[in-house]
Amino acid sequence: MAILVTGGAGYIGSHTVVELLEQNYQVVVVDNLYNSQIEVLDRIEEITGKKVKFYQIDILDKAAMTQVFAENEIEAVIHFASYKAVGESVIKPLMYYHNNIEGTVALLEVMNHAGVKDIVFSSSATVYGEDNPSPLKESMPTDTANNPYGYTKVVIEHLLQDLAKADSEWSVTLLRYFNPIGAHESGRIGENPNGIPNNLMPYITQVAIGKLPELSVFGQDYQTHDGTGVRDYIHVVDLAKGHIKALEKNKEQLGVKVYNLGTGIGFSVLDLVKAFQTVNHIEIPYRLAPRRPGDIDICFADASKAKEELNWQTEKTLEDMCRDSWNWQSQNPKGYCE
Ligand code: NAD
Ligand code: WQD
Repeated sequence: MAILVTGGAGYIGSHTVVELLEQNYQVVVVDNLYNSQIEVLDRIEEITGKKVKFYQIDILDKAAMTQVFAENEIEAVIHFASYKAVGESVIKPLMYYHNNIEGTVALLEVMNHAGVKDIVFSSSATVYGEDNPSPLKESMPTDTANNPYGYTKVVIEHLLQDLAKADSEWSVTLLRYFNPIGAHESGRIGENPNGIPNNLMPYITQVAIGKLPELSVFGQDYQTHDGTGVRDYIHVVDLAKGHIKALEKNKEQLGVKVYNLGTGIGFSVLDLVKAFQTVNHIEIPYRLAPRRPGDIDICFADASKAKEELNWQTEKTLEDMCRDSWNWQSQNPKGYCE
């Protein structure tokens, strides 16, 4: 029996595949390589010494996906495949609704047909929108996402709830990630954004490597301890391990379960910059810049539900995250395109 990982060549997917292989799961990866490189599979095999079965397929291609289910004994699916750039989703909403929502519907139809009714879904803290105060709890309302990307996560969460309501054989876990950063400690896999990064940590590492001149710190008048935005940064390896706990939970309890995956601790932009500088002994030149539209002051998790029900909690520190992000970037200045 194998776990099918959609989007398994991507940032979080590749780290999760490593953890699955380390735990002796068989893994089948489906990815269209829209936002990833084939090289990542060799790196995964290098780290784990194990083979990954890979299909370069779009999840919207139902015939090809049906074939994957016919050729493999799939017991559960971890569904990462998605577009994820918030700003792009505002400019190209149809592209996001098509790929993320229609892609998920297509996947679920193929799963239903194959009788595989076990899924772990990559949701996001973005579903909490702007109005809920941190620490964010799973029980808070989630219909206020303020961009099309976030709204695709809200819709897919609803869709999976409806499916499990209609058919009690479905086992669904919705994982709401906070801000994943860091990389595998080997430095062989990591985050590899196309073009200029939107997110803070890859921007910092590209300044550190000399690819970008300086960091812009967006906003200094937020209601936080130093005026810059506060987020719950989580090491991608801790996050990856949460997926294994979710697979186990799906086996023991049918229906829909929802968990935040965060540390429960918020750090500001300047906290992160300072930690990066101290851990890696590199200066990060930065300038103070206006707020970025759509950003909120503070976003961090109440991480207690995952601890109680999944027996999962983060193990890595902010320093680990900064060290491992830099280890990856410095060993792979051009990402996977060496
Ligand atoms: P990523 O872009 O690195 O990985 C996504 C992978 O999915 C890529 O390899 C891409 O090629 C693939 N993909 C996209 N559309 C596809 C399709 N139609 N068919 C097949 N493959 C397709 O992103 P990531 O950071 O690893 O994120 C993984 C998941 O976690 C996504 O669902 C994302 O929305 C969610 N998430 C990410 C973050 C974050 O900050 N990185 C935070 C919260 C939630
Ligand atoms: C973090 C902090 C910025 C860049 C995004 C998505 C969210 C989720 C995770 C998918 C903020 C500040 C950033 C820079 C800066 N993704 N910043 N200079 O916005 O919390 O979350 O990624 O689900 O949906 O919105 O993450 O890393 O972009 O920003 O000052 O160059 O860093 O203002 O306070 P964000 P981020």
